[in-house]
Amino acid sequence: MKSYSVLTVCLGNICRSPAAQGILESIAAKQGVFLELDSAGTAADHVGNSPDARSIKALHQVGIDISRQKARQVTKDDFNQFDWILAMDRENLFNLKKIQPENSKATLVMFGEFDYQVTFGEVADPYYGGEKGFAEMRTHLTEVAEAFVYHLHSNREV
Ligand code: 4NP
Repeated sequence: MKSYSVLTVCLGNICRSPAAQGILESIAAKQGVFLELDSAGTAADHVGNSPDARSIKALHQVGIDISRQKARQVTKDDFNQFDWILAMDRENLFNLKKIQPENSKATLVMFGEFDYQVTFGEVADPYYGGEKGFAEMRTHLTEVAEAFVYHLHSNREV
């Protein structure tokens, strides 16, 4: 079985990308797919911090523990370490493209592109909203994560 390394990326690495990492870990474990996962932020503001308590709670409600993750900033080197770099929104994608080295190993895409039902394919930033936004983020990320793993399967990549 082929394995893949996947980096999920948002702005702060405390809300969306840690949740995306936890959800992908959970789906991969259930499906017997080997994915090596990590997450990072384009900004450095929250480096070293645990995920936002609202993200931890939203994921805990579905049996996924993301509490031990620690935020870090994405680096140029990540483009040569990971097979896939998955941006949560267009701004993340734009900022990642600015530091992507030529001929990088990683395939850089917007994560939401794997869900055909989602307009613009962005995973909305829940940081300035309430808990409802975090539950919506969890639902959205789960749909996209399933679509992503299905994509890997259907291309016989795992
Ligand atoms: P994330 O959410 O990019 O999904 O981790 C945010 C976290 C922090 C901030 C903005 C978005 N902030 O402005 O500090």
